[in-house]
Parts: sequence; structure tokens; C-alpha cells
Amino acid sequence: MAPNFLFLCLFLSFLSLTHFSISQNTVSSTSFNASDSPWLPNQNRILLSPNSNFSAGFFPISSDRYTFSVWFTNVPLKDDPVVWSANSGSSVTGSASIVISSKGELLLNNSLLANASSTSNSASPVLSLSDDGNLSFGDWNSFDDPTDIVLPNQNISAIKLLSRDKRFRFVDSRSLSFNSSSDYYYATPSPLESMDSLGKVNMTNGAFLTSDYGENRPRKMVLGNDGNLKIYSFIPDQKPQWVEVWLAIWEPCKIQGKCGPSAICLPSTGINDSTSCVCPPGFKQNQGGPQQGCVRKTELTNSIKFLKLDYVNYTGSNVESMDARNFSARNFSICESKCKENSQCLGFGYKYDGSGFCSMVLGELRYGYWSPGTEASLFLKVDRSETDASNFTGMTEVMQTSCPVRISLPLPPKDSNSTARNIAIICTLFAAELISGVAFFWSFIKRYIKYRDMATTLGLEFLPAGGPKRFSYAELKTATKDFSNLIGRGGFGDVYKGELPDHRVVAVKCLKNVTGGDREFWAEVTIIARMHHLNLVRLWGFCTEKGQRILVYEYIPGGSLDKYLFRRPRAGSKKGEAHPDSDPKTAQKPILDWNIRYRIALGVARSIAYLHEECLEWVLHCDIKPENILLGDDFCPKISDFGLAKLRKKEDMVTMSRRRGTPGYMAPEWITTDPITSKADVYSFGMVLLELVSGVRNFEIQGSLLNSEEWYFPGWAFDKMFKEMKPEDILDCEIKQLYDSRAHFNMINRMVKTAMWCLQDRPELRPTMGKVAKMLEGTVEISEPKKPTVFFLGGE
Ligand SMILES: *[C@@H]1O[C@H](CO)[C@@H](O)[C@H](O)[C@H]1NC(C)=O
Ligand SMILES: *[C@@H]1O[C@H](CO)[C@@H](O)[C@H](O)[C@H]1NC(C)=O
Ligand SMILES: *[C@@H]1O[C@H](CO)[C@@H](O)[C@H](O)[C@H]1NC(C)=O
Ligand SMILES: *[C@@H]1O[C@H](CO)[C@@H](O)[C@H](O)[C@H]1NC(C)=O
Ligand SMILES: *[C@@H]1O[C@H](CO)[C@@H](O)[C@H](O)[C@H]1NC(C)=O
Ligand SMILES: *[C@@H]1O[C@H](CO)[C@@H](O)[C@H](O)[C@H]1NC(C)=O
Ligand SMILES: *[C@@H]1O[C@H](CO)[C@@H](O)[C@H](O)[C@H]1NC(C)=O
Ligand SMILES: *[C@@H]1O[C@H](CO)[C@@H](O)[C@H](O)[C@H]1NC(C)=O
Ligand SMILES: *[C@@H]1O[C@H](CO)[C@@H](O)[C@H](O)[C@H]1NC(C)=O
Ligand SMILES: *[C@@H]1O[C@H](CO)[C@@H](O)[C@H](O)[C@H]1NC(C)=O
Ligand SMILES: *[C@@H]1O[C@H](CO)[C@@H](O)[C@H](O)[C@H]1NC(C)=O
Ligand SMILES: *[C@@H]1O[C@H](CO)[C@@H](O)[C@H](O)[C@H]1NC(C)=O
Repeated sequence: MAPNFLFLCLFLSFLSLTHFSISQNTVSSTSFNASDSPWLPNQNRILLSPNSNFSAGFFPISSDRYTFSVWFTNVPLKDDPVVWSANSGSSVTGSASIVISSKGELLLNNSLLANASSTSNSASPVLSLSDDGNLSFGDWNSFDDPTDIVLPNQNISAIKLLSRDKRFRFVDSRSLSFNSSSDYYYATPSPLESMDSLGKVNMTNGAFLTSDYGENRPRKMVLGNDGNLKIYSFIPDQKPQWVEVWLAIWEPCKIQGKCGPSAICLPSTGINDSTSCVCPPGFKQNQGGPQQGCVRKTELTNSIKFLKLDYVNYTGSNVESMDARNFSARNFSICESKCKENSQCLGFGYKYDGSGFCSMVLGELRYGYWSPGTEASLFLKVDRSETDASNFTGMTEVMQTSCPVRISLPLPPKDSNSTARNIAIICTLFAAELISGVAFFWSFIKRYIKYRDMATTLGLEFLPAGGPKRFSYAELKTATKDFSNLIGRGGFGDVYKGELPDHRVVAVKCLKNVTGGDREFWAEVTIIARMHHLNLVRLWGFCTEKGQRILVYEYIPGGSLDKYLFRRPRAGSKKGEAHPDSDPKTAQKPILDWNIRYRIALGVARSIAYLHEECLEWVLHCDIKPENILLGDDFCPKISDFGLAKLRKKEDMVTMSRRRGTPGYMAPEWITTDPITSKADVYSFGMVLLELVSGVRNFEIQGSLLNSEEWYFPGWAFDKMFKEMKPEDILDCEIKQLYDSRAHFNMINRMVKTAMWCLQDRPELRPTMGKVAKMLEGTVEISEPKKPTVFFLGGE
């Protein structure tokens, strides 16, 4: 008896520590009517939903301050369980009350909250809370009048959200705006409708899934004080917490209002979404402090010049776009002179891709940001006497700003036509650029040389604010205990585990065969470090001492996907024949179920789409395979090694892959003379997708099971799936027994169909990565794919 009693006491005291609702005298009921009123904060009365998921009542926010709120019953008080509050969260004291008047009015602190007088059963109106967290009284309900949070099953169509600090708004179920000015986010393709409890969000025309789709957890969509719309799930781990599972805006600097007038927002490169504001060259901080923005150092006179700011855009300004149709010639100097002539023009944007894109910034410089996704350079008007040089650089090569990228391979040309075509394109672009901008080029090169010299003399300490941290070799040596804990050998170099003095655990990658000098390396690393995505491994810093090229990444404890997928002797191989990679560690990895595999596929697709589409097209991964997909908490996939392809010697790209004997993921164009575009990544992703479904290496079956020249994994899978209609035959044997054709057929079918489209041998037939993500999500129709042909058999 005694131990039981003790346990009960412990249990109760545990509850009272973590749950607000548990208090000795708490009265809970599922409805509140006139005979119960008044309701005072000190009565410890709580209104529960029938399923107990939600509670409503006076929620304590400080001593003797309360809000009348609805909250998640099972989310601890300290973890912000509140989902709705009366009067936009304004608080009342302990002497306030909720009263239902004889006329059927619901009053809080004597002011009207809801009026049920006109409702049919106005005689005895009741305050009640539904299972979804919808508090209602007569005609009135809290779902129609949200604060800053939307719950699953709440109709998003007719509501407005206002952030708690009242600076940001979400309106028309699709637009985010700051200070009621222009929208900085517009949900595409259509407005949001509702979210379900498993994490699917319906739009009027489409849907998207959160990264933990499929789990029934407390969820909320929040318009935060950071101006971003995010979905959180409450994950009841050892360390229960709200975890971000979707967000509207990946790059926090694209949210307006982060910086004052004329200032430029820079993302922090590291652990969180924080940003900083810097002044453009020729400007200095306004006296009022960083939030007050920047002012000119020298007022403009009649004699002006332009400074080039790469990757910078001002989104709050009045912009007049001038596309090629407006001009008789597509050319830089015309764009420049248009801005020179116009006294309202503060600068202009120009793209080097031959499109003639030219846009004027008029009126004022507002909401500036730096983003590697900006395809134009901004040319800022300053007085000719201005001595500042621009330190926003990076777009140094003409070709880098045009897409798709063309990496020419050192193989003998097979198809002379396409080579000639490529050369023609490259030459045309160069010629156009040279003719249009000789004058500009000269001044640019002078500035560039100046900057380069400055950087060299300063030992490259001249980093942009918020750039990746530059580590000394000694620091990394200490962090990794003299490079003692080798955790991986990748194509780009060896990886060691380490711990920084601030206790962050890191993966330290020592690169091999990197081209270029310190300056180029730093420029690339800066770009890589600024790519933020839930499904990309974050880069925290780098080291270039002693001829070393070292990158410091966040450490992902789960290890790489191949360890989970290829865990056993191959299907069909003889018993006793050991898997070449088998080591004792792999045996302990859990088996990934179908839902997790699907989420991995989707996460990887989205992050590659981000690399290709949100960032510049030229950020090709070029080495997508299970080894480069790491699994974080909750099997959240994280891609590593992105952006590194550019650091390698181009010739190495081919020979390296050959040497390692894993060409199974390389698109056919790697061995032809076709240009390498983002579609090469799409092909590799298709292979990974098939491997996720089948649990076997694409090139391994080939070797032993079917020793035929004709055999091609995608073709084989295609036949099984769409000709023989035997999807079970290609499924991973490990979890075949979990396959339920009713529950999983659609998902598997979508994954395989998408893979087939990705694996088309002609790059132009493959969808873009953005489309691939949509195909997996199920938000676009997938037409019937053609069978991938035996075009390319890897290995010799
Ligand atoms: C009000 O609720 C109480 C229980 O909380 C119930 O006994 C009573 O009948 C209700 N009164 C009316 C008018 O519905
Ligand atoms: C009721 O509201 C008034 C004004 O809105 C406020 O001054 C007062 O403190 C509130 N009373 C309680 C008990 O909170
Ligand atoms: C509530 O509605 C009734 C009937 O429509 C009306 O007479 C009453 O004045 C309203 N109460 C308030 C506080 O507006
Ligand atoms: C909220 O609940 C009330 C009563 O249960 C219902 O009439 C109303 O339609 C609900 N509102 C929404 C937006 O679901
Ligand atoms: C959501 O609200 C809109 C506008 O009030 C309405 O047209 C739509 O039918 C509602 N949807 C659902 C599912 O209730
Ligand atoms: C908000 O808008 C008003 C009016 O348009 C403007 O005066 C004010 O400066 C803006 N505030 C910020 C922080 O941009
Ligand atoms: C989303 O849309 C699908 C089909 O259009 C529908 O079955 C489902 O109920 C909707 N979900 C929500 C939460 O409205
Ligand atoms: C709500 O309650 C039901 C039944 O008690 C439970 O199955 C479900 O998981 C709960 N949902 C949340 C989000 O807590
Ligand atoms: C983000 O990190 C910086 C330092 O890296 C820190 O100063 C700042 O407080 C952090 N911001 C948030 C919101 O955690
Ligand atoms: C440029 O062309 C666009 C669309 O063709 C037009 O809206 C705009 O007014 C033109 N601008 C000028 C300066 O002619
Ligand atoms: C600059 O921002 C505006 C507004 O968001 C956008 O329409 C435009 O495309 C951007 N310009 C470039 C070059 O990215
Ligand atoms: C550029 O230089 C200015 C003035 O020295 C500085 O405030 C700003 O942070 C620098 N910006 C970058 C991107 O390095």
C-alpha cells in the first residue's frame, strides 16, 4: 500500500509542477452556463473539451494577471500552450470575471465578449469548447476570431492573424504584410484553407505536408513576432518542445521590417534565424541606432556614379521594371543612363544573363536584403566623390549568373553539334557582355582588384558581417582531439567529429583536391553558409590555414541513409555472402517504415529544389546519393556536401566518381558531351527514390542477380510496377510485411512514378526538382512515365 501511495503523491506533485490545470480544487466541466456565473480566476475552474485535449479559462501570465484563453491541456505551462485569448491577449486582474447576463450576453470584466441574444436558444446560452479547441457561445466562436494562431480543422478562409506585437498580418489566407504595406509573402498557388491533425494543409488548389506529416500531435500554425508563418508540432520526447515543421519563408531577411530605411538585412549563418542590418557603401548608420536605418555620407550632387552590390535587392521600394521589350537594345549602359537621367532613381538592378533585365529603384530604399537567390546586381547611385568601395561581391563570373550551368567535360566530343551549340551560347553571352559593358567592366575590375588586395593584406579577416566563422587550425585540432575521431570518408574528404568550446558538436570535413585560392574558397563558403533549409546540413565555419581547406558543419547524429537502407545481404544473393559494407554498427539502425521513407524522399526533394530554385541555379549538388543524406532527429533528412561541387576541379568530378565505382547515380549526360544542368541532380534523386522503395543499391542487383548487359534497375522496376502490376516485387524485403496495398499503394505508386520521370535519359524530359517535390506531395497530377531506357550502364 505504502509504495503505491508514495507513487501517487509523486505523480500528483509531478503533474502540478508541469500542468497548470492540476490544482487541488480545480473544477472542470465541459460547459458553462448562466447558473455557474460569475467565474473568477481564483475559482480554479476549467472548461474542458469532451476529449480533454483543450482547456479554457483564466490563464495566469504573472502574479494576479490573467488572460481568458484556450490552451492545450497536455502542453506544459512553461511551453506556451495557449492557442487563443480574448481581446487579443490583453490581461485582466484577479478581480475580473466572466458572467453570462440574463440577456444572454457573455461579459469579461463587464465588457461584451459575445452576444447570444439574437440566437434561437437565447434562453440558456452555454459556453462550450469543442474537441478541436473551438470555444463557442451562441453564434460567436473563437475559431472565427483568432489571435495569432490557427489550429487543425480551423477554417483559414475567412480569418485574419495579427502577430502578438501587432506588427505583422496574415490576410486573405495567403498574404503576409508588414505595417500594412505591401505583401512580402504570397502563398502559391492558392490561398490556404485548413490544416488537419496529421499535418496536411489544404489550399484551394493544392496542398502541402509538414515535415512530420502522419503523426497525430498537438499542432499550431503561428504568425510569430518574427513575421514568419510557421507550423509547430509538440514533440513529446525526453525533452518535450514545440518543433518547427513548416515555415512560409526560408530566408528571414525576406521578411520586411527587419531593418530601417536604406539598410541591408544579412542572415546570420549559424544556429538560428537571427539577422543583422548593415549599411550599404556610401551610407552610415543613422543617429537613432541600427533600427533607424542608414543615411548618405555625402549628399548627391550633379555628378554621380554607381556602386555594384551583388545579391542585394530592395523590396519595399517603388520599382519600375524595364524588360527587353522597352529597349531597342538589351544593354547595360542604356539601363545605367536611364537611371542617371531620372533624379528619382536611386539605383538599378541588372541581370547578366543576356535577358536585358533592368529595374529602377525609385523614391526610397526600403527593406533591403542580401540573398544568394537574387539574380540581379544592384547598382546604387552615390555621389562621385564617394570613396567607399562596395563590399557586397561574389558575382564575379559572368557565367555564374546565367543558368543552366555548363560544365564542360574533358572527354572527346561525341556529338559535335551540341558542343558547337554550347560554345556558341557561351561566346554569345560573353560577346554581349563585352560589347554592352566595356566601361562598366573596367571600373568593376578596378574595384574588384582593390577589394582583392585589401582582403589579402588583411589576411581575409575582412569578412561580411554575419559571415561564416573562420576557425584557426589549432582551434579545430583541439575540437577534434587532434583529428582522432574519424566518422566518415566522403568523396570530398575525411570527416571528423569534434566539439567546440561552446559545446556545439561539429562534423569537421577536411577537403581534398580543392581548386582556387583562399579568396575563391572564402567566397564559395560564404555562399554555402547562407543557404538555410530544414533539410540542409548547416555550415558553421571554415579554416584555410596552412594550405588546409576545412569546413565545419553541424553534427548530425543519425548517420547516413545508406546505413539504414542497405543493411543486409542483397535480396536474392546467396546466404552467407556478406554485404561489402556490412559492419556491426549498421545492424543497430532501426528499420525505416513507409511513412518515414516517404518523408525522407519529400524532405530531400524540397531541399534540392531549394538549392536549384530558391538559390541560384548554379548550386548543383552533383553528388546526390544515400551517403550524402544524413538523418537527424526524428529521421529528418539533411543533405550534406551541397555547393562543394564548385570547389572541385571539374575534371575530378568525373574521374573521382569513376574511381570510386559508384557511377550508378550519375546522369547519362556525365559521359556524353551534353551540358550538365540541374537535371543531372534530378536523375540522381530518382535513383535514390527507387532505392528508398526497394532497399537495394541500384547497381548491386546488376552485378550478381542478373548478370546481363541489358539489365537496368529503373527499367526492371518499371516493368514490375507498370507492366506486370506486381509492386510487391520491388519493395524492400525488410518491411514488405508492413506493406498494406490499401494504405500504401498510392504513396509507393507516386514515389515510383516520380522516380521514373526523374530517370528519363533525356534531361529535358525530366521534371525540375520543384515539380518533383510537388509530384511527391501529390499536388500535381503525374502523367504516365515512359520506361527509362538502357542508355547508360555505369562501371566498367
Ligand atoms: C448549467 O450547468 C449545470 C451543470 O454545470 C447544470 O446542472 C444546469 O442544469 C445547467 N443549467 C442550464 C440552464 O442549462
Ligand atoms: C477591466 O478593464 C478596465 C479597462 O479596460 C481596466 O482598467 C481594469 O483594470 C479591468 N479590471 C480588471 C479587474 O481587470
Ligand atoms: C445583445 O443583443 C441584444 C439583441 O440583439 C441587444 O438588445 C443587446 O443590447 C445586445 N447587447 C449588447 C451589450 O450590445
Ligand atoms: C465552432 O463551434 C461551433 C459550435 O460547436 C460551430 O457552430 C462553429 O461552426 C465552429 N466554428 C468553426 C469555424 O469551425
Ligand atoms: C470556410 O469559410 C469560407 C468563408 O467563410 C466558406 O466559404 C467555406 O465553405 C468554409 N469551409 C469549410 C470547410 O467550412
Ligand atoms: C509604417 O507605415 C507608416 C505609414 O505608411 C509610416 O509612416 C511608418 O514609417 C511605417 N513604419 C515602419 C516601421 O516602416
Ligand atoms: C483536404 O482536401 C481533401 C480533398 O480535397 C479532403 O478530403 C480533406 O478533408 C481536406 N482536409 C481538410 C482538413 O479540410
Ligand atoms: C486528442 O484526443 C484524442 C482522444 O483522446 C487523442 O487520440 C488525440 O491524440 C488527441 N490529439 C491531440 C493533438 O492531442
Ligand atoms: C541567435 O544567435 C546569436 C548568436 O549566435 C544570439 O546572439 C541571439 O540571441 C540568438 N537569437 C535567438 C533568437 O536565439
Ligand atoms: C516597360 O514595359 C512594361 C511592360 O511591357 C510596361 O508596363 C512599362 O511601363 C514599361 N516601362 C517604360 C519606362 O516604358
Ligand atoms: C527583388 O524583390 C522584388 C520584390 O520581392 C521581386 O519582385 C524581384 O524579383 C526581386 N529582384 C530580384 C532581382 O531578385
Ligand atoms: C561593408 O562595410 C561597412 C562599412 O565598413 C560595414 O558596416 C558592413 O558591415 C560591410 N558589409 C559587408 C556585407 O561586409
